[in-house]
Amino acid sequence: MGVEVPSANSDVLPQQFRIIGDERGGLISLECADNVPFVVKRVYYIFNTQADVSRGFHAHRDLQQLAICVAGKCRMTLDDGQSRQDVWLDSPDKGVLIRNLIWREMHDFSEDCVLMVLASGHYDESDYIRDYDSFLKEVSHGKK
Ligand code: TYD
Repeated sequence: MGVEVPSANSDVLPQQFRIIGDERGGLISLECADNVPFVVKRVYYIFNTQADVSRGFHAHRDLQQLAICVAGKCRMTLDDGQSRQDVWLDSPDKGVLIRNLIWREMHDFSEDCVLMVLASGHYDESDYIRDYDSFLKEVSHGKK
């Protein structure tokens, strides 16, 4: 791979993608080892989110993800155990790279929001940390 995976203590990493646009409109290409710094094993997307619903509220032990709102918008809250940061995903050319051991919450979904997530691993419930205090403990134990 030509692109290094972000180091464990790197901060939340907002991504700006190059739009390959012409008079017909826009196109964005996501490619492993180019603008996706991991091998993609899974893609999922969240849509039709009901009003006032927030999602997430978990961290992953190993999984890395790249999240993009390909339509609409939502607000992501990202927490590395020391500080919280809000990132608005409100354009298909914006993304956020979420490394392992980052607590994430998604709020304020617009009605038309389609949140697409590229993931470095298959779905694995044992990789989830769904309790915030457990997350803080794992971070402080330096299991990054
Ligand atoms: P979850 O990751 O908890 O959703 P969110 O963090 O957005 O609130 O997933 C919700 C449910 O969907 C849960 O039962 C696990 C299942 N799921 C899969 O089966 N495969 C997947 O790739 C994902 C992301 C979730």
